[in-house]
Amino acid sequence: MGTGDHMSLKGQIALVTGANSGVGKSTAELLVRAGADLTMICRSRERGEAALAEVQRAGAAASAEVRLEIADLSRPADVRALAGRLAAWLPAIDILVNNAGAWLHRREISPEGFEMMFATNHLGHFLLTHLLLDGLAAGRGRIVNVSSDAHRYGDLRRAGLEAIARGDAWRGGFKSYGDTKLANVLFTFESIRRWEDRGITANTLHPGTLRTRIARRNRSTLGLLMRMTRSLLTRPEIGGRAVMRLVEDPSRDDVTGRYFKVEEEVRAQAQAYDADLARELWERSLAWTGAA
Ligand SMILES: NC(=O)c1ccc[n+]([C@@H]2O[C@H](COP(=O)([O-])OP(=O)(O)OC[C@H]3O[C@@H](n4cnc5c(N)ncnc54)[C@H](OP(=O)(O)O)[C@@H]3O)[C@@H](O)[C@H]2O)c1
Repeated sequence: MGTGDHMSLKGQIALVTGANSGVGKSTAELLVRAGADLTMICRSRERGEAALAEVQRAGAAASAEVRLEIADLSRPADVRALAGRLAAWLPAIDILVNNAGAWLHRREISPEGFEMMFATNHLGHFLLTHLLLDGLAAGRGRIVNVSSDAHRYGDLRRAGLEAIARGDAWRGGFKSYGDTKLANVLFTFESIRRWEDRGITANTLHPGTLRTRIARRNRSTLGLLMRMTRSLLTRPEIGGRAVMRLVEDPSRDDVTGRYFKVEEEVRAQAQAYDADLARELWERSLAWTGAA
């Protein structure tokens, strides 16, 4: 198990955000090879269609169905429209991989007034998951939130959450990215407390330090370093396989509420276990997104 080569997911319904590149594309290929019917959620139609053709080729032997949906996760209207389209033809969702992510070097604010990485990496997935909850509860309901070991640099206690979410407490691209990745872990752990009785499981992971496109537009020194050392970094498949390990084997259905460094379960940073912080982030995210 864990390689996506055994048709172990035949007939299961899977969704992956950010499925046109890096970890998301690798996960998409492994899911369809394992027989899952997949919806790839991508921001750009052009990049999405190019990746769709590749993923379809990867899954040809499994004759899995692969579809493409377009949505910019930083835009709540896009996320709502996407969820509406999905609800129309997806009665049950077995696997949701919240993977899309941005790492920016400068402060950008979304039209709704949120720091752009916070809007994309946290709020977009928070809203999408809420809107898909009934489908998840009707299916196997396995959620994987792709976080990062950069969450260890996150600090959501240093200022009010409102100031952090709005970009008023900006402290550079890497640490602010770390804030959003810490939010991914807090969201995962709180979703178990709130949704466990609906049969949902949720885990979160660092997919590895990987040769993907995450640093392509990042003009910080670290971004430059990542681009310069690109060829030395690990293949994105390492991250895809780590995701597969969490979703493929039904005997792991009771594995929930954990943080993994690639395939090894480790402790997340201390704030990730702060239940008051998790509750406050959840309540505020509900108000910010209007998810109910
Ligand atoms: N690479 C690493 O070393 C590393 C380490 C730790 C964690 N991670 C995490 O792994 C996940 C995947 O990243 P990656 O490394 O595979 O990078 P990547 O190759 O840049 O892929 C990121 C994906 O997210 C999509 N995306 C970004 N902003 C979006 C938005 N507003 N709406 C919809 N989709 C959006 C991108 O779409 P476009 O093609 O349109 O930009 C792309 O498909 C991220 O959550 C990242 O934080 C990566």
